[in-house]
Amino acid sequence: MRYSRIAGTGSYVPDRVVTNDELAKLMDTSDEWIRERSGIRERRFAAEDQSTADLALFAARNAMDAAGWEPGDLDFIVFATISPDYYFPGNGVLLQAALDTPQIGALDVRNQCTGFVYALAAADGFVRMGLYNKVLVVGAEIQSAGLDLTTKGRDTAVLFGDGAGAVCLEAVEDETGGRILDHHLHSDGNHADDLAILAPSSRCRPFVTSKMIEEGKTSPQMNGREVYRHAVLRFPQVIKAILEANGYSADDVDMVVPHQANLRIIEAVRKRLGLPEEKVYTNVQRFGNTTAASIPLALDEAVRAERIRRGDLVCLAAFGSGFTWGASLVRF
Ligand code: ACO
Repeated sequence: MRYSRIAGTGSYVPDRVVTNDELAKLMDTSDEWIRERSGIRERRFAAEDQSTADLALFAARNAMDAAGWEPGDLDFIVFATISPDYYFPGNGVLLQAALDTPQIGALDVRNQCTGFVYALAAADGFVRMGLYNKVLVVGAEIQSAGLDLTTKGRDTAVLFGDGAGAVCLEAVEDETGGRILDHHLHSDGNHADDLAILAPSSRCRPFVTSKMIEEGKTSPQMNGREVYRHAVLRFPQVIKAILEANGYSADDVDMVVPHQANLRIIEAVRKRLGLPEEKVYTNVQRFGNTTAASIPLALDEAVRAERIRRGDLVCLAAFGSGFTWGASLVRF
């Protein structure tokens, strides 16, 4: 049998720290409102000349160093983002060129906050099928470029940040060592409009106009209460389901690495699962919601801080726009 294991993790965040007080100078908000509703104290914003592919390159090199891989070792790239450098092509090819790998395949995944879990599942599938031996899985975002940093956009602008994370997946045949155990993936597109950026859009001719920009359609629109209601339901549901399907209970888990949406959501999920604080990793306080980057960024921090060690049972779980949600179970 073939499996895949995480051979290395990496991450990168831009240098510029943006505090809640700094946002309060741009819009009608306050440090108190943001902390109370989301737990976020600060986030990073990329420099104006940095792109999502640039952030991904740093994270990818960092993960490849941890795994001891050279660009020539790579067989395939999976890149999850909702803030690509171009409308098309996707960011996978940009990373392939920036890493200067051979002309390997590069797949783009657009599953928003669940993007990294979908990307990991696809990469794991390729490895198990025997198609590839060494796959780089990346989640990277520059949200700051698309946010409306005025009072009109305050309900979403205060929540998001920029960053990147990456994982090196390699084929193994030993089922007793570290390996990816399972993935559960879900979607319900009836909620597509509850959290979305509506333009550019193939529904409109031309696909973007200055009117759309003025109306805020190129910035995120969110039904915050609906997102919250579904998130606190779906996270525990999918975590319980993947554990049960693999013969485990919440007590067996060494670390849950949830998508870092919002500390209130994470806390509600932790309590529903009956997990102690030390078994649920959080860094949303420092980076805000970095969408597809949030899980690999948190995972890398947890690994480097030795909060996750070889042999640990780790559950990655996400919920987000789509709605999409899912979990991966990993024997690290
Ligand atoms: N600063 C100050 N006031 C604000 C801000 C802001 N940044 N944003 C909105 N408000 C105002 C609103 O205009 C509204 O005012 P009104 O009552 O006069 O109309 C009021 O605050 C709403 O306040 P609450 O009802 O207390 O807001 P709520 O408790 O619903 O919290 C929040 C809002 C934080 C968005 C919540 O709904 C939530 O956490 N939702 C989940 C959103 C999320 O995490 N999204 C991330 C992307 S999806 C994902 O990753 C899972």
